[in-house]
Amino acid sequence: MTRMAAVLIPLAALRAAAISLTASAVCKTAVDCSLGGKCVEGRCQCYPIWQGAKCEMLAIGEASNVSTNGYRNPEGASWGGSVIRADDGSYHMFVSFISRDCGLNSWKFNSVIHHAVSANPDGPYSFKDEVLSEFAHNPTITRAPDGTYLLYHIGETLSADERSLYLRDCRKGRHAEPKRSANSGGPANFDGRIRIAFSKSLDGPWDLLNNGKPIMRPRGGEHWDTAVTNPAPLMLKNGSVFLYYRGDDRFHPDFTGKRHRKIGAFFAQSWRGPYHRIRDTPITPSGEDPVVFANSDGSGYHMIFENKFKGIVGQHAFSVDGKFWQIVEDPAYDLLASWDGGSSTKLERRERPQFLLDEHGEPLYLFNAVQGSRSRGEGRSAVQSTWTMAAPLGFRLPMASGTPPRRPEIETATE
Ligand SMILES: *[C@@H]1O[C@H](CO)[C@@H](O)[C@H](O)[C@H]1NC(C)=O
Ligand SMILES: *[C@@H]1O[C@H](CO)[C@@H](O)[C@H](O)[C@H]1NC(C)=O
Repeated sequence: MTRMAAVLIPLAALRAAAISLTASAVCKTAVDCSLGGKCVEGRCQCYPIWQGAKCEMLAIGEASNVSTNGYRNPEGASWGGSVIRADDGSYHMFVSFISRDCGLNSWKFNSVIHHAVSANPDGPYSFKDEVLSEFAHNPTITRAPDGTYLLYHIGETLSADERSLYLRDCRKGRHAEPKRSANSGGPANFDGRIRIAFSKSLDGPWDLLNNGKPIMRPRGGEHWDTAVTNPAPLMLKNGSVFLYYRGDDRFHPDFTGKRHRKIGAFFAQSWRGPYHRIRDTPITPSGEDPVVFANSDGSGYHMIFENKFKGIVGQHAFSVDGKFWQIVEDPAYDLLASWDGGSSTKLERRERPQFLLDEHGEPLYLFNAVQGSRSRGEGRSAVQSTWTMAAPLGFRLPMASGTPPRRPEIETATE
C-alpha cells in the first residue's frame, strides 16, 4: 500500500460518513432525544433507561420469577403499587386492595390502601398493615425535602351509614350488590377527591392533611375536568410540587356518555398547598394514570401515562419546565412482559405505571398494575387475577407488537 493510498482511503470514508450523517441525523438538541439522552453528532445517545432512535421507549429488562415478583395478595384483588426505599434499605409499597372478597370492578367504593414490605426492590412484598380504610384508592408515595412521607391518593372516609349503603360484599354471593350504586346520588364523586396522608415514618401513624378535606376538587360547568383523579406528584428539590392528575368531563352539561380523559396539572409552593391549576387547559390530549420524574441533572421531566383508549399501553411525554409537555407518539412499552429465564407473557392489562427511584431520583424499576393473560387461566373478573408487577429498567428488549429490537449502541459517523 502506498503512502498516498493510506491517506486517501480515510478521507473518502470520512466524506461518505459525513453524507450518511446528514441524511440520517435524528437530533440537534436533547429535546429531539425526548430529554432521555444527549444529542451527539446527530444521533441520540440515550440514558440507560431509555432506548430507540429518539430515546422514546423505556428500556425494560426481564422481570424476576413471576412466583416471587412484585406483590400479590392471596386474600384478594390488589391494584397499582407505588414503592419507596426506606432509610434502612427496606422497600415499602402502598397499594389498593379491594375489600370483602370483591374484584377490581368493585374498586369504587371497596378500595382500601395496604402497606406491604420487601427486602428486595422487585419483591416479593408481604402485606404489613392497612393504612387507609374504605374508600381510598390510587396511592402514590413520595417524600418531601423536609423528610415527611406523603401518600397522595383519592378517597373519602365513609361513615357507618355510607358503608352499609355503598360497599359491595362479595362474600354474600348473589346478595353482594350494594344497597345503592356507586354512581347514584351524592357520593358519585368520592373518587374525585384528591387527598394527602402524611407521616414521619413509612410505618405510620398517618394523618390526613386538613382532616381529609380534598386538596383539589373537580370543577363543575363547562370545564374539561369536571372530575379529577389519579394524582401524580412531582416533588421539586425546593419543596414545591407539581401535581398531575387525570380529569374527565363526566359532569359536563353536554356529556354524552363517552368520557374524554386528559391529564392536567396543579402546582403548590409546598406540599401542604394551596394547589392551583397551572392553566385552564389539559397538558395532554388524552390519557390517564400519569407518573412523573425528573432527570437527576435537572435537564427535564418525564411522564409515563396509560392511554389504552387510544391503543397505547404506556405513553411517554417530556417537558423542560413541568408545564408544557411534548407527547411521544410511539409507545414507551406494551403488554409484553419478559421474565428472567427467557419466557414472556402478553398481559391482558398493564396500567398504573409507577417508578421506584434511586437516591438521585432516577428510576430503577417500573411497576404496573397487571392482569395476567387469559391463556394462563386468569380471567378478567377473577378476584385474585390482578397484582403489581416489577420490571427492572436499563435493559433493552424487543417489543411484543413485532417492533424489531433497536440497536442499543450509538452508531457513530465512522461505523
Ligand atoms: C420460578 O419459581 C418457581 C417456584 O420456586 C419454580 O418452580 C420455577 O422453576 C421458577 N421459574 C424459573 C424460570 O426459574
Ligand atoms: C421552587 O422552584 C420553582 C421552579 O423554579 C419555583 O416556581 C417555585 O416558586 C420555587 N419554590 C420555592 C418555595 O421557592
